[in-house]
Amino acid sequence: MTTKTNAHTIDVPFRDMPDIAWQPPQLDALPELPLLQAQGLGFSYPLHRRWPWSAPEQQTLLHDVSFTLQTGRSLGIVGASGAGKSTLARLVMALLQPTSGSIRLLGRTLHTLAPSALRQARRNMQMVFQDPYSSLDPRQRIERIITEPLRALEPATQRAAQREQAAQVLAQVGLRSSDLDKYPHQFSGGQRQRIAIARALITRPLLIVADEPVSALDVSVQAQVLNVLIDLQQQHGLGYLLISHDLAVVQHLCDEVLVLDQGRVVERGTPQALFSDPRHPCTQALVQAVPQIDPGRARRRQTLRQRIADAVDDNPPARHASARQVHPLL
Ligand SMILES: Nc1ncnc2c1ncn2[C@@H]1O[C@H](COP(=O)(O)OP(=O)(O)OP(=O)(O)O)[C@@H](O)[C@H]1O
Ligand SMILES: [Mg+2]
Repeated sequence: MTTKTNAHTIDVPFRDMPDIAWQPPQLDALPELPLLQAQGLGFSYPLHRRWPWSAPEQQTLLHDVSFTLQTGRSLGIVGASGAGKSTLARLVMALLQPTSGSIRLLGRTLHTLAPSALRQARRNMQMVFQDPYSSLDPRQRIERIITEPLRALEPATQRAAQREQAAQVLAQVGLRSSDLDKYPHQFSGGQRQRIAIARALITRPLLIVADEPVSALDVSVQAQVLNVLIDLQQQHGLGYLLISHDLAVVQHLCDEVLVLDQGRVVERGTPQALFSDPRHPCTQALVQAVPQIDPGRARRRQTLRQRIADAVDDNPPARHASARQVHPLL
């Protein structure tokens, strides 16, 4: 099926409104339109039947999760291991289908889009994974790794043009265009994670979902990568859904934080309010866990926290981005 798009109409059939030519939102409307909105989100899957004749039981991983993320803002998701954070990330990226509720990106319900429309919608949202060692294909050169989302979306684009775009995003994360011809093993963990961020940037997204983006990195490198994320938010008005168990990361980068426990939002608020006066036992446990691990680790975290705080103080995150760009299908 061919997909024809222009600035005003699309002929991709949407499952929820198949015969209606859809008007993409105007740039001016963006401040009023939430970048990402989850309403009553639930996810469960059937377990094996106990007996062939019995109904399968449902295992519920997320219950009734709701939040709103505005363009250029950051929402943090924290919670203990197994709380459902990555499941939520996969739902937002439309890699899983919710069993209840909805997720809207710029007003469009993602899980009702036809596959071809969803592919185009993915230009506006990209993901950065936790482990920079396994998320980059060791057999591919950096150019090919970074341009992979572009090749999927625009197979007809000339390779030289794609290489040029790859060089641009590589520069934005502090690497050189000569790095395009290298392989992942030639980079440190922090550099690899910057490459992963460059790959996410190449489609010029409005939303980046980062699932534990710095937790696989040495603490001294974490601040570098977080500074890159802060700078990019300032320059491009990116919205972040930032998943982390590290309170230092969430505290300084996020405008609002949700605490997940066994798939439920048990507390939410600004990071300052949440971490200075945690109400729910789960939040209290997360807050208390940080300084009590061991004194040396607490000191290092303090250093990181100070560095992040300094970076934020020197460059307050952009609240209203001027360089916003909406891709045609969203
Ligand atoms: N594909 C799957 N099939 C069955 N159960 C799953 C699947 N993926 C996750 N789970 C279960 O769902 C729950 C939530 O998992 P999830 O990965 O979302 O947690 P998390 O908060 O990201 O944990 P962590 O901090 O360890 O990454 C866990 O109990 C996990 O065992
Ligand atoms: Mg996870």
